[in-house]
Amino acid sequence: MAVVKFRFEDSSISPREVKGMVGDNILDLAEDNGMHINSNCGMVCACSTCHVYIEQGEEVLSEISDKEEDFIDRAINPRIESRLSCQCIIENDDPSELIEVLVPDQSQIIGHEH
Ligand code: FES
Repeated sequence: MAVVKFRFEDSSISPREVKGMVGDNILDLAEDNGMHINSNCGMVCACSTCHVYIEQGEEVLSEISDKEEDFIDRAINPRIESRLSCQCIIENDDPSELIEVLVPDQSQIIGHEH
């Protein structure tokens, strides 16, 4: 199982480390472990609300598609390490693999639930 470390721009939320398997996506993994990331389109790559930054481990995740890139352009503060978390599927879960995810401040995202 790969190690997936979540950090949050919202400093009131503590970083978390969870384990992920091949086939897991980063959004599901967060939600299954009690963390919140917006997902307005229901994980079909049709919004940008599940935007995260993959700070490490991009190479063990599924490749970015053109459609995903288009939606990332509409996210708040897109950067080179931006991904849509629902489209990041773990493809290698060797325990030596570390994936680091920075979750943007969810209160800045239109449609947020909190
Ligand atoms: S939830 Fe809409 S693209 Fe991920």
